[in-house]
Amino acid sequence: MDKLVIEGGVPLTGGIDISGSKNAALPILFSCILLSESCTINNVPNLRDIHTTIRLLNMLGCSCFYEEHCVHVQPGALVPEAPYDLVRTMRASVLCLGPLLSRLGKARVALPGGCAIGARPVDQHLKGLELMGASFQLEGGYILGHCRRLKGTHVSFDMPTVGGTENLLMAASLAEGETVLENAAREPEIVDLANFLCACGANITGHGTSVIRIQGVTSLHHAQYAVMPDRIEAGTFIVAAGITGGELLLRNCPFHELEAVVRKLRSMGMEISATPVGVLARCTGPMRATDVRTQPFPGFPTDMQAQIMALMCLAEGASVVEESIFENRFMHVLELMRMGAQIKVSGHTAMVRGVRQLTGAPVMASDLRASASLVLAGLAARGVTDVRRIYHLDRGYEQIEHKLTAVGARIRRVQE
Ligand code: EPZ
Repeated sequence: MDKLVIEGGVPLTGGIDISGSKNAALPILFSCILLSESCTINNVPNLRDIHTTIRLLNMLGCSCFYEEHCVHVQPGALVPEAPYDLVRTMRASVLCLGPLLSRLGKARVALPGGCAIGARPVDQHLKGLELMGASFQLEGGYILGHCRRLKGTHVSFDMPTVGGTENLLMAASLAEGETVLENAAREPEIVDLANFLCACGANITGHGTSVIRIQGVTSLHHAQYAVMPDRIEAGTFIVAAGITGGELLLRNCPFHELEAVVRKLRSMGMEISATPVGVLARCTGPMRATDVRTQPFPGFPTDMQAQIMALMCLAEGASVVEESIFENRFMHVLELMRMGAQIKVSGHTAMVRGVRQLTGAPVMASDLRASASLVLAGLAARGVTDVRRIYHLDRGYEQIEHKLTAVGARIRRVQE
């Protein structure tokens, strides 16, 4: 297993190119199961989860390969089975369920287990697909689903679920009649998926709002599409500028999609502005404490909670973080405390009291965004920080040590 060795204390300065969005690319790739013609997806980040998805798509009969940030897809005779040993490594594999039912009328998908941040149930996915005419059995850890042709209907989610909205959006694209998704998630990645499906001939309106209407069509055709840039990677690097007291220009950086994050970081004292060549983020002095409650889009994203907490550890005053989406997304807290952070957790709330300095230490990554938080803390800490188990990080950040080295960070990947 690899680790990152970081010698902190260097203000980062320079430019970083933001990669394509992992959480937009994954559902877009799974939606290729719906296509009856080839397609090319551009601006796909070179990440472990992307290659896991490509492996799974090839097993499902949707042959594709990755080349220079592009995925070339050639649909073929589909196979309805997503095996456990792939699904357990990537929960997003459950996104093949809707497309397989829609194209084949059957699917055998391993039930994704929980993960470090929570139970991650898929009851809303199944409820919605059942309303469209599918029936499911759970057998040996697998979801066995089958249906005749899925039929459009009204689906109202109990909570705005990103994956549930994506699964139903894909299934409804080829269903008979109109499907209305209410209390749908509004994340930009869902808008990107819907835009891709519309480029392939789907009939979708309302994406980005909590009511999405889909008129089923009989088939989807060829498209060439570029995935949106990754707003969470961008948000992570904006925090990197703030926590190291530097100045970064983020090229190809989403801005509108980061509104809630930008608002919070500005309230802490960061200067963040959109320029014609990218988003400029800089620290203008000591950070001030703030309070954050994670919420579905357009609220503050849970995927940025661990990162802003690292910044709060060095802010003047006490900050309060409430994690309202996942039940166990404070795995970074104990590791930050090993670096001298002062944090008290009570249930879903963490109280962070800023300290003058963090000190480098060996720490353990536990999930994707917790890993990012530890890297950020290491960039600011006095001394050396070893971040272990960075395979978590490689799932969502493309070449992070190269991007950070290019702006002055003293960071290197070491084989353990
Ligand atoms: C997506 O996960 C993202 N993953 C997550 O990003 C992100 O944290 C999450 O949305 C929230 O924004 C991808 O897009 C691949 P949800 P997803 O369904 O779809 C509950 C990262 O770091 N729920 O919106 O699994 C669930 O327990 C990852 O990039 C049900 O109860 O999230 C959670 O409390 C981590 N039943 C809440 O809804 C269901 O059937 C939100 O989950 C589905 C969800």
